Amino acid sequence: MALPTAAAAFLLLCLLISTAQADSPCPFTSSDNSELPLLHIYGKCSPFHPPKAESWTDTVIQMAAKDPARLTYLSSLVAAKKPTSVPIASGQQALNIGNYVVRVKLGTPGQLMYMVLDTSNDEAWVPCSGCTGCSSTVFSPNVSSTYASLDCSMTECGQVRGLSCPATGTSPCLFNQSYGGDSSFSATLSHDSLNLAPDVLPNYAFGCINAISGGSVPPQGLLGLGRGPMSLISQSGSLYNGLFSYCLPSFKSYYFSGSMKLGQVGQPKNIKTTPLLRNPHRPSLYYVNLTGISVGRVLVPLAPELLAFDPNTGAGTIIDSGTVITRFVQPVYTGIRDEFRKQIEGTISSLGAFDTCFTATNDASAPAVTLHFTGMDLKLPMENTLIHSSSGSVACLAMAAAPSNVNSVLNVIANLQQQNLRILFDLPNSRLGIARELCN
Ligand SMILES: *[C@@H]1O[C@H](CO)[C@@H](O)[C@H](O)[C@H]1NC(C)=O
Ligand SMILES: *[C@@H]1O[C@H](CO)[C@@H](O)[C@H](O)[C@H]1NC(C)=O
Ligand SMILES: *[C@@H]1O[C@H](CO)[C@@H](O)[C@H](O)[C@H]1NC(C)=O
Repeated sequence: MALPTAAAAFLLLCLLISTAQADSPCPFTSSDNSELPLLHIYGKCSPFHPPKAESWTDTVIQMAAKDPARLTYLSSLVAAKKPTSVPIASGQQALNIGNYVVRVKLGTPGQLMYMVLDTSNDEAWVPCSGCTGCSSTVFSPNVSSTYASLDCSMTECGQVRGLSCPATGTSPCLFNQSYGGDSSFSATLSHDSLNLAPDVLPNYAFGCINAISGGSVPPQGLLGLGRGPMSLISQSGSLYNGLFSYCLPSFKSYYFSGSMKLGQVGQPKNIKTTPLLRNPHRPSLYYVNLTGISVGRVLVPLAPELLAFDPNTGAGTIIDSGTVITRFVQPVYTGIRDEFRKQIEGTISSLGAFDTCFTATNDASAPAVTLHFTGMDLKLPMENTLIHSSSGSVACLAMAAAPSNVNSVLNVIANLQQQNLRILFDLPNSRLGIARELCN
């Protein structure tokens, strides 16, 4: 029996989440120097739009509803040519993409900013004073003694695809960038000290944003954790030796923070790994070789070309910190879903983006989903597989197909499937590691 629309809408609003409690739950600094707290942008500890407990579910749903725009954006990144401008939606206050923020200080003396982490971008950028269309918290370059803009003749300017230099004289490096599928901004490439407690990175190159259009640009900027030359990992050089990891907190315990660890210190010793694949057309993305998916004991029959890595088309699988629900290309998702439905008892219904929901009393019959990578199997914990309504009565397979309106060839492993796992990015050895960890 399909749920009536009104009931479905109600459940959608109530989906998830038991409210976690703690006395002093918001860690803005870590007792362990090797860790940086990671806050969910709409969690209780976030400085942004503190949500009421009862609206959190709604927030999760709204965030997941932004996934198709994220997928469209990621697909535009994987196209062999450089991304062109995308249509700009009006309205600055729409919900932002980008789910986890880290607290940094920029400039001298340091100005506090909460920047979104994005593993699929290289550059960092922050809204700067005088910006048109930015939120109220901006970075003021004129009060930092270490700030300078970079000239358009610098190599870094080529790396951000800066606008052309004037024929004579000097000029700051200006660049325009699209973001999130519906937004863009223009910025001046600059450098200043970036303080990621306890480390200071002098002369960190970032874009000082002058103007924004659209609603997806993170309000206090973005810190790119991609693989390309402008990313945090590249700019920090030997300080972190090309190593970082993060552990995303459970969606159910949104008072709490996860953590990011930069460099070798404190990284797990025993961790299963899979090679990272390099796409020369899109050096910032973290591709892995997903070779198969099992549902319960059944290896889902999938044509190998549906999962194969192809640098020319951008096809393959990436791991991403900015997508909420894992998305597979349509035939892959259909294969997983059909096998999952086969093994679930009772009637299947749908709820919002989720098309495989069932009475939660049948939870015990829900099969585990295992992602097979080269050299590593990841059996997803149930928490990373199912999403529950707040009443607990309905559970849904928390994955979906890529949007059909893009020529989608990309599978994206997203936040919900990464909860309570430490994801290690080891660039010198070109591998990605995953280990179970309680992050919050
Ligand atoms: C810095 O710039 C902002 C915005 O342009 C201005 O309001 C402020 O007075 C300036 N501060 C100094 C110290 O120049
Ligand atoms: C860059 O962005 C600015 C501000 O949105 C706009 O005026 C300008 O035309 C853009 N330039 C290019 C080359 O796209
Ligand atoms: C991915 O794994 C498949 C199956 O083991 C293998 O045939 C293929 O060569 C791998 N692709 C890459 C790019 O490593």
